[in-house]
Amino acid sequence: MKPEFDLKAHVRHVPDFPKPGILFYDISTLLINPEAWRETVDRLKVAIEPYKPHKLVGIESRGFLVSAPLAYLLGIGFVMVRKRGKLPGEIIRHSYDLEYGQDVVEVQADAIQPGERVVVLDDLLATGGTMGAAIQLLRGVGAEVVAAASIIELTFLAGRARLDVPFSTILSYDS
Ligand code: PRP
Ligand code: MG
Repeated sequence: MKPEFDLKAHVRHVPDFPKPGILFYDISTLLINPEAWRETVDRLKVAIEPYKPHKLVGIESRGFLVSAPLAYLLGIGFVMVRKRGKLPGEIIRHSYDLEYGQDVVEVQADAIQPGERVVVLDDLLATGGTMGAAIQLLRGVGAEVVAAASIIELTFLAGRARLDVPFSTILSYDS
């Protein structure tokens, strides 16, 4: 790891995307730079390793980008939490409220054995609605959710307060 590496310099800020007034934190520019991406994955590895997970869980779609390489590095299994209708076989789903309407996250019923320790990963924590729903979903299949983590946290949206597990991030933004 390189503590002096300025990772924030590799996150692109895109104003008014996807809607006017929203500032979008774009990780495409992290992914495209091999040194920045390696540093990102390495820092998250240090953050989640102490929880000794049996499996890592990634949230579709950008959460997959960071969770799959981390599972590979830790030598543990990787489970997908997906959006509606994408997974075959027996599925467990959890509905959650959005600002307008509802959304659903799904996981395969046999992906996690009861009592297995899992860490949930996404690229970004905003309101915490997506992460909170994934945690509830995973408890529904018997997982012990020991921690959650993301590359970016938008602290001004207070998503962390909606989570009832330890949360780690490597890049915090307060506006
Ligand atoms: C974004 C982001 C997180 C979520 C954070 O995903 O990747 O998953 O929103 O928001 P929240 O904390 O307010 O729930 P998005 O739904 O845009 O889809 P994508 O990952 O498939 O691009
Ligand atoms: Mg997402």
